[in-house]
Amino acid sequence: MKRIGLLTSGGDCQALNAAMRGVVKALWFQLGGDQVEIYGFYNGYRGLIYSNYKLLSFSDFSGILTRGGTILGSSRTPFKTIREPDENGVDKVSAMKQNYYKLNLDCLVVLGGNGTHKTANLLREEGLNVITLPKTIDNDLWGTDMTFGFQSAVNIATNAIDCIHTTASSHSRVFIVEVMGHKVGWLTLNAGIAGGADIILIPEIPYDIDKIVDAINMRTKRGSSFTILAVAEGAISKERAAMSKKELKESLAKSATKYPSVSYEIAAEIEKRTGQEIRVTVPGHTQRGGSPCPYDRVFASRLGTKAAELIINNDYGYMVGIVNREITKIPLEDVAGKLKYLEPDATIINEARMLGISFGD
Ligand code: F6P
Repeated sequence: MKRIGLLTSGGDCQALNAAMRGVVKALWFQLGGDQVEIYGFYNGYRGLIYSNYKLLSFSDFSGILTRGGTILGSSRTPFKTIREPDENGVDKVSAMKQNYYKLNLDCLVVLGGNGTHKTANLLREEGLNVITLPKTIDNDLWGTDMTFGFQSAVNIATNAIDCIHTTASSHSRVFIVEVMGHKVGWLTLNAGIAGGADIILIPEIPYDIDKIVDAINMRTKRGSSFTILAVAEGAISKERAAMSKKELKESLAKSATKYPSVSYEIAAEIEKRTGQEIRVTVPGHTQRGGSPCPYDRVFASRLGTKAAELIINNDYGYMVGIVNREITKIPLEDVAGKLKYLEPDATIINEARMLGISFGD
């Protein structure tokens, strides 16, 4: 008999349900339905801390392959304060351990991104058997070439750029499409290339506003009447990149009193320099919503079956990911606390430059 705890933590994304279904179906079919118990904890680590869970049945996982969101709900439980007691004095880490032992679990399967992995690794260090699956539209988890949710989000962000393309060309306008990603630019870069953006701004390559204006002017000179910029939420100017932490915080706070996000600030700067009207579109959380794309359904299902294999073999303490197209296990202690940034001189960035895409640098 295997008794498994399951939870989804952090910002949601597509294919969370597909991944959980993958784990559970594989366990059920490999071990037999009477040899597996699945306890679903609601709303991320909160469910594990506050004992909010349900013993799930096979039918709970039926029909969810294509469903967005997560049947278990999710929440962010910041790692920074995980060791601090909550407002009622509850020791969160002890509570999670107690609930794990109370249910006599063999393993906790955690689906999450960066913050989630730090806590998962802490629980591993505390002696729990943990397996994790890499979810996030940001694709920024270290140790795996891809996270699930990413390809679905690329599709949505690309579609947003495609839609803007037609109206931008009708009206001869400069448009900014703001893509999710505060710290990394994987989503913006891929959607930007796929959508034929002319300028792509990502956190890893600080921009110079004059270089952006040069790129727009160059297009106008070549006879293009419109320009599309794909801008990551975390795009940063060269001046800000050179600031101290304190100065940066102050500068961003000041900007936030005037502009809803970085794209609006960039739009205002371009308008000031060119006299052109700039439009901004923010697809926002639509990028995390809706059905997973076929790639993510397959990918998440494959990750799920690998997680089941590890559980069957009592092989714990890993994130299941994909490396060089192979589904594989990566030690949790190697993953926790590290971000997978885009290298500014990555091949894909050089290829984008060869296509004439400007990074505003
Ligand atoms: O980490 C996923 C993500 O969607 C980021 O791309 C985005 O910056 C952030 O979460 C948004 O967080 P929230 O849902 O808390 O607004």
